[in-house]
Parts: sequence; C-alpha cells; structure tokens
Amino acid sequence: MKSIQNSNYQVYFDNSLSVLNEVLARKTYSKVFILTDEVTGELCLPVLREKLPELTDFDLIEVPNGEENKTIDFCIGIWRTLLDFEADRNAILINLGGGVVTDMGSFAASTFKRGIEFLQIPTTLLSQVDASVGGKTGIDMDDVKNIIGTFAQPQAVIISTEFFKTLSDREMTSGFAEVIKHGIIADADFFTDVAQLENARAITEAHIYHSVEIKNNVVTEDPFEKGLRKTLNYGHTIGHAIESWSLSNEKNSLLHGEAIAIGMICEAYLAMQLVGLSEKDLATITETFLKYYGKYNIREGIENELLNIMKQDKKNQSGKISFSLPDKIGNCKFDIFVEEKLIRESLAYYQSL
Ligand SMILES: NC(=O)c1ccc[n+]([C@@H]2O[C@H](COP(=O)([O-])OP(=O)(O)OC[C@H]3O[C@@H](n4cnc5c(N)ncnc54)[C@H](O)[C@@H]3O)[C@@H](O)[C@H]2O)c1
Ligand SMILES: [Zn+2]
Repeated sequence: MKSIQNSNYQVYFDNSLSVLNEVLARKTYSKVFILTDEVTGELCLPVLREKLPELTDFDLIEVPNGEENKTIDFCIGIWRTLLDFEADRNAILINLGGGVVTDMGSFAASTFKRGIEFLQIPTTLLSQVDASVGGKTGIDMDDVKNIIGTFAQPQAVIISTEFFKTLSDREMTSGFAEVIKHGIIADADFFTDVAQLENARAITEAHIYHSVEIKNNVVTEDPFEKGLRKTLNYGHTIGHAIESWSLSNEKNSLLHGEAIAIGMICEAYLAMQLVGLSEKDLATITETFLKYYGKYNIREGIENELLNIMKQDKKNQSGKISFSLPDKIGNCKFDIFVEEKLIRESLAYYQSL
C-alpha cells in the first residue's frame, strides 16, 4: 500500500479506508469517536460505513459545517460529548471532514484530558493536501483565524479520493490552489504537470501523493515554522487579506483557495521586483491562475483596508509585513519584508490584467 512515513505517523493512500481497521487494531482503544460536520456526516460517513461494515462500535459527534463554527463553543460541545460518553485517555477521535473538522477535532483531542489520540480522514482536496499534514490544530476567535491552537500529531492520516464524488467543483478548485502552490515553491516539474490539467477534477491520486510529500518534507524539516515552513505561506499574505475582506463585504465570498490564487499572482509580481523571479515565470504563474480561477474584481479604493489587514498578520515581525516569495518556479525565499508602496503596485498589477 502506498504511504508516506513521517517521523510521527503514516499518511495512507490507495483509497485505503480499510487501513483504518489495522490502525485501530494496533492498540486497545477504550472508545472510538467519530467527529463529522452535518455535511460529512450525511455524505462521507456512509462511504466509510460501506467500506468498513464491521466498524460499528463508535459514538458519533456532529458539529454544524462552515468556518464560522470553528470556535471554542463547538469545541466545548465536543469535549462535553467526550465526557458524557466517558472517554478516558485511551479513547481515540477520528476526524472525518474538511479542514474545519480536522483542525477543530484535532484541537479538541489534543487538549481533552491533556491529549487523547486522534486520526485524520480528510474529505476535501484542501484538507488532504494541506490541513491534515503538519500537526497544526486550531480554532478561530473573534474572527481571527486559527488564533488558538496546538501542535499535535495524529496516529495516521487516511486519504481517499472517493470522497470527491460529492465535493463541489468550486471546493475542488479551491483546494487545487494549494497543489499548484506546492509546485511553485518546491518543484518546477510538478508545477508544469499540474498546470497542464484541464481542471481541478483532473487531479489524480499521484498528484495528491506528491503534493502531500512536498508539504511533509517541508514540515518535517521545520515543524515549528522557524524558517523553511514559511515558504508554505506564499500567496497567503495578500491572499488572506483579500479573503478576510471578501468574507466581511461580499455575499458570495471567496473561498480560501480562490483568494490565495489572487495572492499568488500579486506576490509573484513582488517576487519579480524583489527576489529575481523572471518575467517569464511571472507570466506563467499569472496565466495559470487566471486559467483556473478567472479574474476577480479587487474593488478600487480598498487597498488601505487590505493593507490594514496585512499589518495584523501573525507572521509579521516588529510591525513589518513579511512575505514568502519564489525566486523561480520551484523555489521559494522567506522573511522578505516589503514596503507598502510595492504592495499597492502588486494589487494594481492584478487589477490591470
Ligand atoms: N492545520 C493546517 O495546517 C491547515 C492548513 C490549511 C487549512 N486549514 C484549515 O482548513 C479549513 C478549510 O478547509 P476546507 O476547505 O476543507 O473547509 P471545510 O472543512 O469548511 O469544508 C468545506 C465544505 O465542504 C464540505 N465537505 C467536506 N467534505 C465534503 C465532501 N467529501 N463532499 C461534500 N462536501 C464536503 C464541508 O462540510 C464544508 O461545507 C480552514 O479552517 C483552514 O484554516 C488548516
Ligand atoms: Zn492555504
């Protein structure tokens, strides 16, 4: 069976949901809990049940779906259910869902009784290639994303593309942005390969495997984001500001991947100005993201608001806005501090496309 071995756990592929049995049989767990949101409870739990009809002895915990529920209130609900159902320290929590479920579930597990074991079964493309690897757990507070969290490692991550059958094209495309990002920051051939795909649905398990491999290599080398791990933030400084703005100002707001796709175009412009990204690579990056995401209208006049959001980014140091920028497709620099004027110029570059 194809898998990636991390220093702490294994990531399983090959639509290998049945490996769950093996992982659960390695120890005598006092209780098994499965956490889902309302959507994955309805759409993904039946997939798991069908593959593993023998898995019957578990208690289900369900939270409402959506980022707005990744909060301490729902976390308390999870802890309370664990208590009510008498979870002791030998219990295990299986997180079955997108990044909201895997982030909040792993946070709840890593803090309950000072930490119980947990296992990730990510069901969105984004959570498979990004959220489920790297050991960051978290919840949001007062609209600040992931501000409360821990570093904690799962027993295993089990990846199956079966779940994509019910995932919308829009969510698929959003997750695809992180796959493209992995190519730009670490592997030019992989970038070329995925940038040729007709759309996000054309992604194969081999692409997901390699994308996880790239993220895993980075987080293994730098688990606590002292250096190299910062390269994963490419596109996220401007992208995150646009995402936050869109969330508070637009009815049909941008998804995470859609926002960082815009961020990656703007930040590629910065990269050309500051770290020697060639004009050709800038053009390739720009065309690739426009092909999958189209052009978003960054409204004229919101630049100050976007800059204010960027100034609050937890990655900044001493009030300076910090960026991770590729010097060529396939390699990325980090800790590049950029002046406001140039950031405005990068937004203008996007607007001019
Ligand atoms: N821990 C990390 O390192 C890390 C990295 C990246 C992102 N994240 C977090 O991940 C979250 C975003 O993840 P996401 O995009 O998966 O969001 P999500 O969990 O909100 O999932 C998106 C939507 O898809 C639904 N869904 C999930 N699987 C489905 C399926 N198979 N079929 C149909 N619908 C399905 C969900 O119910 C939800 O409505 C954010 O909270 C972000 O902070 C964490
Ligand atoms: Zn991201």
